[in-house]
Amino acid sequence: GDGSQQKIDYVFKVVLIGDSAVGKSQILSRFARNEFSLDSKATIGVEFQTRTMLIQHKSVKAQIWDTAGQERYRAVTSAYYRGAVGAMLVYDITRRQSFDHIPRWLEELRGHADKNIVIMLIGNKTDLENQRAVPTEDAKEFAEKEGLFFLETSALNATNVETAFLTVLTEIF
Ligand code: GTP
Ligand code: MG
Repeated sequence: GDGSQQKIDYVFKVVLIGDSAVGKSQILSRFARNEFSLDSKATIGVEFQTRTMLIQHKSVKAQIWDTAGQERYRAVTSAYYRGAVGAMLVYDITRRQSFDHIPRWLEELRGHADKNIVIMLIGNKTDLENQRAVPTEDAKEFAEKEGLFFLETSALNATNVETAFLTVLTEIF
């Protein structure tokens, strides 16, 4: 068939968080539809997209939630995190401030989510290597200290986007 009547073995909710404009919505769009837009608009409220994948011979529906990085547009925090089994904590490798805010996002996440949630730190926009402001080593060190997975991605050229989600979904499994 076309996959629309596929049997689903598991539904996993994964949330995206991080400062505005780091590329959360474009990472989601790349993962769910293999699309990318350079004139992406800031997210208002909450949106989600799904993609069903085969993982270890089971069909897993990943339900990926995306909210605004901007405080005034954000979804109700507790509802956003409720039931999430995975989280993508995103910063922009060209904007140091977006990395410096990661501890705050992590604190909010740990304050609201299940304690067993699988967390992936993501440094996005590696296609802009010549504008890099966050050394890979700094992020790697932080991730190790906090017990997070870590990858650098580009939603623009699709580097590591699939791997990031697959890593989290497989670990949840
Ligand atoms: P909020 O919804 O406001 O929280 O922002 P966001 O984190 O969802 O950012 P969004 O995905 O809308 O992307 C912001 C800008 O960065 C847009 O112009 C995107 O096209 C651009 N962008 C996203 N990912 C990449 C990337 O990997 N490389 C480059 N060069 N630009 C990117
Ligand atoms: Mg967005």
